[in-house]
Amino acid sequence: MKYQSVKGFRDIIGVSAETFSFVEKTARDTFKKYNFSEIRIPTVELSDLFLRTIGETTDIVEKEMYVFEDKGKRKIALRPEGTAGVVRAYIENNLSQKEPSQKFFYIGQMFRQERPQAGRFREFSQIGCEYFGNTSVYADIEMILLAKEILESSGVKDVKIEINNLGCEKCRPLLLEKIRKILSAVPSESLCDDCKRRFQKNPFRVLDCKIDGEKFKNIKPELCDLCSAEFEELKNGLKDVNVNFTVSNKLVRGLDYYTKTVFEITSDVLGSQSAVCAGGRYDNLVKDLGGATTAAVGFAIGVDRLVEIIEKSEVRSPKSEVQSAAVFVCATENDDCKKTAFHILSEIRNSGISADGGYFEKSLKSQMRLAGALNSKYVIIIGDEEIKNKKIILRDMKVQQQKEIGIDDALGEIKKCFNRNS
Ligand code: HAM
Repeated sequence: MKYQSVKGFRDIIGVSAETFSFVEKTARDTFKKYNFSEIRIPTVELSDLFLRTIGETTDIVEKEMYVFEDKGKRKIALRPEGTAGVVRAYIENNLSQKEPSQKFFYIGQMFRQERPQAGRFREFSQIGCEYFGNTSVYADIEMILLAKEILESSGVKDVKIEINNLGCEKCRPLLLEKIRKILSAVPSESLCDDCKRRFQKNPFRVLDCKIDGEKFKNIKPELCDLCSAEFEELKNGLKDVNVNFTVSNKLVRGLDYYTKTVFEITSDVLGSQSAVCAGGRYDNLVKDLGGATTAAVGFAIGVDRLVEIIEKSEVRSPKSEVQSAAVFVCATENDDCKKTAFHILSEIRNSGISADGGYFEKSLKSQMRLAGALNSKYVIIIGDEEIKNKKIILRDMKVQQQKEIGIDDALGEIKKCFNRNS
C-alpha cells in the first residue's frame, strides 16, 4: 500500500516552509511593537465551546468541524479557529487580573473540513490576535493598522480593506427584522439551498452569499445613534492614519460572535478565496462564556494565503536573507579526513556561521556538486594529501579560486571571510 497525505492536508517544503517561518517571525516582531504577548492554546477544545461561540448554525460548526469522541466519551473538536480558545483561556486563567497587558497573539494550525480548493485547506495556519478590555474605536483602528503592518512588512502590497458595522444588541434585531421581511417577499424556490436554510436559522448570512448575495446588496444595517457615531469615528480615524478602505454592507462574517466593527483584508493576487485576513469586535463573547463583561476585538491572518501572495508576486525571497550553508565542508573517506572535517564543521557552526558537510560517503565530486547546489560561498576540502601535510583547501566559490592553508588556521580564515572577529 502506498501512503499519501489525507485529502485536504499537505506537506509544506523548502522555500515555502521558509516563507512560512519568515512570515511568522515578521508577525512576532510586529506584535512586540504593539505590546502583544504570546498565548499558546490547545489544538483541541470541547466541541460545545465552538457551538456556543462561532454559532450552531454557521457553516463552520454545521459542516466543517472535525469532531470526535475521546476515550472518556468527551466530544472533542479540532479547533477551527483561535478566538474561542483564547476567550476560554482568558476566563479560565483569570487573565484580566493576572496579566498587565490584555493583548494576546497566537500562531498555529486550524482545521476545517471544507471542500478542498485553491486557498482552502483542511489544515491551515493562522496568525491571530485578541485585544481585551478596550471599548474605544481606537482599539479597532489599532487592530486594522496592525494587520496591515504585518502584511506589508511581509512584503505584500496593494491589499484592499473592507469594513462594516454589524451593530450592537440594540440595532442588530432591527437589521434582522429588515432582512427577514425582504426575504419573506422573495419566492423560496428562487433561493439557493444554503439561503433557504439561512432564512430560518441565520438570515444575516444571506447578505454575503456568493449566489444570492447580489439580490440583497442594498440592505443596509440599521444602526442606533451610538453605533452610527462610532462607525463615523472609525472611518475618520482610519482616514487620519492614511488607511484606505471601503465600506461593504455585504461583510457580515461567517462567525456569530461579532458585534459592531468587522473587517476583511483581501488581495487580488489570490483567486476566489481572496481574504487574507479577517476580524472584528466581539463585545459579548467573554460574558456569554461566563466571564465579566469585557469588550474585545481581534483578527486572524490566513498564513497559507499570505505565503501564496508572497510566492505569486515574488515580493521577497526569504532564502536570500538566510543562507543555510554558507560554508560546505568536504572530505575523502579516510578516517582522519572525516574526523578533522567534522571537527572544523562544528567549529564553524559554533562561531555562528551556517555550514553543512558530513556527506563523506559520497565522492568528492558529488560533495562539491552539493555545495554548488546549496549556493555555498566557501568550500573546505580535506583529502588524503592535505591531511598528511596538516593542510586544508579553502575554495572561494564565487571567484572559483582556491588556496591551501594550515588546519589550525582554517577557522580563523573562515571567520575573516565573514568579517567575524577571530
Ligand atoms: P476567519 O474569517 O474564519 O476568522 O478566518 C480568518 C482567515 O483565515 C481568513 O481570512 C483566511 O485567510 C484564513 N482561512 C480561513 N479558512 C481557511 C482555509 N480553509 N484554508 C486556508 N485559509 C483559511 C477567524 O478565524 C476569526 N477567529 C478571526 C478573528 C480573530 N476575529 C476576531 N479575532
